[in-house]
Amino acid sequence: MADSLLNVLVIGGGGREHAIATSVSNSPRLKELFCLPGNPGTALIATNLDIDANNHDAIVAAVKAKQIDFTIVGPEAPLCAGIVDRFEEEGLCIFGPSKSAARLEGDKAFAKKLMSQALVPTAEARIFDKLERAKEYIATRDTAQVVKAAGLAAGKGVIICDEPYEALLAVEQIMGKRQFGDAGQTVVVEERLKGPEISVLALIDDRTICVLETAQDYKRLGDNDDGPNTGGMGAVSPSPHVSDELLERIQHEIIIPTLDGLRREGCVYRGVLYVGLMLTAAGPKVLEFNCRFGDPETQAVLPRLKSDLLELLHACACGRLEDAEIEWDHQIAVCVVMASGGYPGKYMIGHSIDGLNSDFGDDVRIYHAATQSHPPITRTAGGRVLGVTALGKDASEARTKAYEAVGKIQFKSATFRTDIAANM
Ligand code: AMP
Ligand code: GLY
Repeated sequence: MADSLLNVLVIGGGGREHAIATSVSNSPRLKELFCLPGNPGTALIATNLDIDANNHDAIVAAVKAKQIDFTIVGPEAPLCAGIVDRFEEEGLCIFGPSKSAARLEGDKAFAKKLMSQALVPTAEARIFDKLERAKEYIATRDTAQVVKAAGLAAGKGVIICDEPYEALLAVEQIMGKRQFGDAGQTVVVEERLKGPEISVLALIDDRTICVLETAQDYKRLGDNDDGPNTGGMGAVSPSPHVSDELLERIQHEIIIPTLDGLRREGCVYRGVLYVGLMLTAAGPKVLEFNCRFGDPETQAVLPRLKSDLLELLHACACGRLEDAEIEWDHQIAVCVVMASGGYPGKYMIGHSIDGLNSDFGDDVRIYHAATQSHPPITRTAGGRVLGVTALGKDASEARTKAYEAVGKIQFKSATFRTDIAANM
């Protein structure tokens, strides 16, 4: 059974899912690949199923009808809404954490309390579900604060405030005006940390933690980390700031105590855990947990994976990670996100994208994040449109190749950072 061929479904339709589907499509264990809803990029390597990723009934019905053996969940929303629990009730095999374990991402207040109980290093924080209490607290602070909507807000529910009055405005926006909807019912107000940021991904089953290669995300919209936070404007893997010793430390001081804390809550984590960290003068501290692969980090990490991704994720879902060995390409990967002008605020969609069929060479991958197909034209369909990843022997070579590829693609109002992997 362990080596039988598998019909596989990837849930989601962004750049991360295109990267996952691309790796899975190269697996010798793959029979047939489906993506749901997928995108014009995944359509080239899989059958796209036109079903909403949040419609669990329709997904379960499709999995049964297509005799899908294994499902991989990309985005957080279906995980936080309990798709894994539903699949398990139906006796279907799926990769991802249960609803209760996914609270590590879906409820920042829960994650903060768990870290505090488990003595996991993180920014000092207070949690509020009343606007007035939050304002009173902020008024007593004289240092930079970060205000976060506790619920899911597509990576945008975090406001970094240099001055206390900015934190008052932020809490007013998030809690009072509900800028991020019900995600802002509860807020976390925490100290602002300083230092380089890294993203660590680990595959986790009941017995084993398998830390993957690291990445650095570029969260701010503009060069030199200027402008608002976004879902991520680029990534480099591996992060230049990480040594084996540091990864050991992160595993022992952060990942293991967090998983133990979850166990005390009665849940076992299975799937990929994303740990967003700041390397402060006092050591690594957690900024956030995500219960799924990071985006765009995955678009930089997976092209470096030499082992079979499908085999690894299936082993993780079946509790067989213990035997897994992971091999990496030692090249550096640089991913540059091409976004629609105006993102992360308002932007136009529907612009035709030129140059997608250029000769990019073997070291370049073009991942679709938000595109729509109107044959023979592909058009923009969202904020982050494409992820352009290149591999090179060092950061400079990978960066040069990535920006050469970006230069071959055009769409109206395209915007991207020009400093991804610069000065490394
Ligand atoms: P989060 O979604 O919680 O990871 O926050 C998004 C981004 O905001 C992070 O990747 C950091 O760049 C920044 N951030 C979050 N929390 C803090 C903090 N306590 N201090 C400084 N920056 C932060
Ligand atoms: N790149 C950050 C995230 O996936 O949330």
